[in-house]
Amino acid sequence: MTISPLFRLGAALLCCILISQALGQDCSCNFHVKGDCQANGNACVCKLPIGPDLTPIDCTKPIPKCFLMKRESNPGKGGRRPKPENALVDNDGLYNPDCEGNGIFKARQCNNTETCWCVNSAGVRRTDKGDKNWKCTELVRTFWVIVQLTRNNTDSIPEADLKKAIADTITNRYKLPAKFITNIEFEGPLIYIDLKQNTTEKTPNDVDIADVGYYMEKDVSSQFNTQCVLASLM
Ligand SMILES: *[C@@H]1O[C@H](CO)[C@@H](O)[C@H](O)[C@H]1NC(C)=O
Ligand SMILES: *[C@@H]1O[C@H](CO)[C@@H](O)[C@H](O)[C@H]1NC(C)=O
Ligand SMILES: *[C@@H]1O[C@H](CO)[C@@H](O)[C@H](O)[C@H]1NC(C)=O
Repeated sequence: MTISPLFRLGAALLCCILISQALGQDCSCNFHVKGDCQANGNACVCKLPIGPDLTPIDCTKPIPKCFLMKRESNPGKGGRRPKPENALVDNDGLYNPDCEGNGIFKARQCNNTETCWCVNSAGVRRTDKGDKNWKCTELVRTFWVIVQLTRNNTDSIPEADLKKAIADTITNRYKLPAKFITNIEFEGPLIYIDLKQNTTEKTPNDVDIADVGYYMEKDVSSQFNTQCVLASLM
């Protein structure tokens, strides 16, 4: 009996959910292989090495993009093999960001230099650059993130099923409530996923759509050692 691609897709997603539950009980970090978690009574307390520091993180949902970018731009010591030149997918947006304690980007970023600029909540530059006196009055919220994926070996899967599998992956793996996935659309070999979340809709506990978008990008380019990877399904 041959297994249809759809079944394989379903099986892979199921496996992914089981793995995260098993890891969760162990008090380990589901969202970063380098997350270091210790059980403390009923709580599971996690930290992530970012540069020379250990930063407290919540390992039950995607780790804020600001922390991840900071980690990437501070590889730290310990003899890590340098990344091959072409391994970094980030399109020239990488800098060493300043993050708030909860992982939100500070409105003004200077990349450890004398040159500063203002960013939005996805950490993307939104103004000209200036000197140290450059003022950024507020962190402008990115309320719409479009994720573009390329289909790979999914031609035989009905679009409705693929749509459901993608939505389920985003809610299960990335913990984004389904109401923030506003559209999934197919155009030739491309899949467009609209994530929308404005200030009034997002509760403090909701994962941010910018963090989800960043995770999807990393998972798809296999930079994270994740056990369930959207890329392997596409
Ligand atoms: C940030 O600084 C690094 C190292 O000085 C540099 O390579 C990189 O281009 C800078 N990034 C931005 C966005 O200015
Ligand atoms: C498409 O999927 C196959 C395996 O199913 C994989 O070997 C190949 O690298 C993928 N191509 C892209 C562009 O991701
Ligand atoms: C946020 O989105 C909701 C639902 O789409 C909408 O009703 C509301 O007006 C929006 N709020 C702001 C401040 O844009």
